[in-house]
Amino acid sequence: MVAKKPRIVIIGAGMAGLTAANKLYTSTGFKDLFELCVVEGGTRIGGRINTSQFGGDRIEMGATWIHGIVGSPIHKMAQELHSLESDQPWECMDGYLDSPTTMAEGGFELGPSTVDPVSTLFKKLMDFSQGKLIEDSVCSEELSVGTFLRRGLDAYWASVKDREEIKGYGNWSRKLLEEAIFAMHESTQRTYTSAGDLSTLDYDAESEYIMFPGEEVTIAKGYLSIIEALASVLPAGLIQLGREVTKIEWQPECHRSVEVENGYGSRPVKLHFCDGSTMSADHVIVTVSLGVLKAGICGDSGLFNPPLPSFKTEAISRLGYGVVNKLFVQLSPSHDHEGKKLNKFPFLQMVFHRSDSELRHQKIPWWMRRTASVCPIYNNSSVLLSWFAGKEALELEKMKDEEILNGVSVTVTSLLSNEVKFIKVLKSKWGTDPLFRGSYSYVGVGSSGEDLDSMAKPLPESSKSGANACPPLQILFAGEATHRTHYSTTHGAYFSGLREANRLLQHYNCVGVSELLQH
Ligand SMILES: Cc1cc2nc3c(=O)[nH]c(=O)nc-3n(C[C@H](O)[C@H](O)[C@H](O)COP(=O)(O)OP(=O)(O)OC[C@H]3O[C@@H](n4cnc5c(N)ncnc54)[C@H](O)[C@@H]3O)c2cc1C
Ligand SMILES: *[C@@H]1O[C@H](CO)[C@@H](O)[C@H](O)[C@H]1NC(C)=O
Ligand SMILES: *[C@@H]1O[C@H](CO)[C@@H](O)[C@H](O)[C@H]1NC(C)=O
Ligand SMILES: *[C@@H]1O[C@H](CO)[C@@H](O)[C@H](O)[C@H]1NC(C)=O
Ligand SMILES: *[C@@H]1O[C@H](CO)[C@@H](O)[C@H](O)[C@H]1NC(C)=O
Repeated sequence: MVAKKPRIVIIGAGMAGLTAANKLYTSTGFKDLFELCVVEGGTRIGGRINTSQFGGDRIEMGATWIHGIVGSPIHKMAQELHSLESDQPWECMDGYLDSPTTMAEGGFELGPSTVDPVSTLFKKLMDFSQGKLIEDSVCSEELSVGTFLRRGLDAYWASVKDREEIKGYGNWSRKLLEEAIFAMHESTQRTYTSAGDLSTLDYDAESEYIMFPGEEVTIAKGYLSIIEALASVLPAGLIQLGREVTKIEWQPECHRSVEVENGYGSRPVKLHFCDGSTMSADHVIVTVSLGVLKAGICGDSGLFNPPLPSFKTEAISRLGYGVVNKLFVQLSPSHDHEGKKLNKFPFLQMVFHRSDSELRHQKIPWWMRRTASVCPIYNNSSVLLSWFAGKEALELEKMKDEEILNGVSVTVTSLLSNEVKFIKVLKSKWGTDPLFRGSYSYVGVGSSGEDLDSMAKPLPESSKSGANACPPLQILFAGEATHRTHYSTTHGAYFSGLREANRLLQHYNCVGVSELLQH
């Protein structure tokens, strides 16, 4: 029979999928070595990168920051593309705005002497848990970051006994205020990690996560400019949109020749799409989110047929995957011509009573109480941004726009003792979108970095050789949740796409060629 070109199908046109496609396409040199295609369930490329417009400004609905520029391949690409400069303003073009205004519920402004000691404590504890100060953790119990942090706060209180009670902050005592400032930082940590509850975030694994050094920056021309650059080298038609995969049939055990057995041609994998069509493949690179995989392994109508082996399903189940959403609101211009005009909205940090506290202001909705800040997206923008995690983030997806505007307005008005109105709202909906089912992954208590490594292993597992050998590398896995040290990030997704492309290039012995051609 005439030798066919191997067919590689990449599922998902996000950072991981497009990086793999770009690598496979550009580095084979003789570009017709593979039949390559990318099938994407949505109507756009980018996945969890979704650059949009709001109130005339460029904003990011998903990935926002390059987390550390030194050594980041995303930063390198952005530089080469001149994506870091723009004539138009963009989200966070001035970095983290300095000097926030911190307001406690009841309208009390908190000065640095109250806020800073708690902020410093929090930072020290997080640095410690991330292993910046120690090599190995000293605990053998299953410890969560949440528990560790609260122990740290208790230890702090024990060390600073007999302090004077503060005055002039209404019903706030010093201890309540410190706890609430601490909780504000915990809220921020929830959005960084996507662990809706920090007591589900594994303490030991925190120190495996690697952060690039250097500044954190946003991309002036939009995160999507990176995605578009990766896609731009691919020929038209290689990326197919609106092609949601509903089932992946594969061959973990081959007793006879696959060709004879199943009649799919000689290709061992068969993909089924939502419109009923099918496609056969030699290799499939699955880049769908951990949330999509979690949904895909439960119930009888799973995504994989036969189901994934238990080492995979266990890793998928144990690893954490949470919801983080961004909320953009636009300030009403009308408040400009009122007597007390707030011509520049501050970087507002919010310190709330606990949701169950008797002291809480009844009108501030529960879903605002674990939001740390409301902040203009750049110095003078009329667009304000807040981050939400966990059940508050899911609630946001359900609510009507007016309800959200009202809740944010009531909260901010009561904190600033100054009426603040909004005219427009835009929110991300990563939790309920069936193509994502959440935002990014984290290592949950009971899981570990080894589960992230298991996520990356191709299937079938190293097959027997000889007559009963199964075609190797039928299903490969890429995506942020498959990278042990850079999970949850765009560069983690990027590295994972490269890794799986290289795995296939190596399999076909064309790594040497590509490396040669690049120089
Ligand atoms: C709100 C938010 C903020 C973030 N902030 C940052 C940040 O500041 N910095 C950072 O580095 N990272 C950030 N991230 C994380 C970053 O966006 C992701 O880690 C990265 O984009 C994931 O890329 P991926 O290719 O692994 O997955 P995805 O982007 O999810 O790509 C997978 C693709 O598969 C498609 N798909 C799913 N199911 C199917 C199916 N059945 N058939 C066909 N196609 C399917 C999806 O539509 C999607 O396009 C953020 C994410 C969110 C949600
Ligand atoms: C706050 O303190 C005042 C007295 O300073 C008291 O009258 C009021 O009831 C307290 N508020 C709440 C909600 O407990
Ligand atoms: C923001 O604007 C203020 C004036 O309103 C200015 O003092 C400050 O330097 C600006 N900050 C940045 C980061 O541009
Ligand atoms: C930002 O606002 C401040 C104060 O309102 C103003 O002085 C400054 O010129 C503005 N800067 C820009 C870049 O618009
Ligand atoms: C992507 O952005 C658009 C707005 O430009 C929005 O309508 C869509 O819901 C966003 N996707 C997600 C998953 O948030």
